[in-house]
Amino acid sequence: MKSIEPFIRDINDFPKPGIVFKDLTPLLNSPEGTDLCLQELLKQIDGAKVDKVVGMEARGFFFGTLIAKALGVGFIPVRKPGKLPYNTISETYALEYGSDVLEIHEDAISPGDRVLIHDDVLATGGTAAAVCKLVERLGGKIVQCNFIMELEFLRGSEKLKPNHVASVLKY
Ligand code: PRP
Repeated sequence: MKSIEPFIRDINDFPKPGIVFKDLTPLLNSPEGTDLCLQELLKQIDGAKVDKVVGMEARGFFFGTLIAKALGVGFIPVRKPGKLPYNTISETYALEYGSDVLEIHEDAISPGDRVLIHDDVLATGGTAAAVCKLVERLGGKIVQCNFIMELEFLRGSEKLKPNHVASVLKY
């Protein structure tokens, strides 16, 4: 079976010395790689009923919208502060140094909506955990948190329990 791995490039010392960055741009630059990745992401959903796909800025937008289109449901962006034009709710989450904030439109999800959360990478899980909280505060039910890559050694999936985590590649 074909893998998306050849389409992902390691960049040493980005964004900081000592970090090996997993660069998705070769995958995005290849219709074949993009299609393969989308099919893998859809396989993980395994036919589960989904009403909305939520993707986070910025790299969760690439495949989040493709997944939503393929499932025939709406896509909801979660954005960094001050970017969404309508009324929002926000969640603050801890970073290695300091904290960050994510926002979602208050009318984006209806109570009882079955929501798939998508992002490119699960690292520490702080981002995805904050998005889970936003979705739950609006009454959404999380079907799955779905990633292209999971950096398992950072144990992000533990932060997302009891939600189901699925990823195409694990490092
Ligand atoms: C990266 C990545 C995830 C998040 C994962 O986003 O795209 O959203 O970090 O990290 P975590 O699991 O430790 O929270 P980044 O904040 O770099 O934003 P970007 O997608 O806008 O570049």
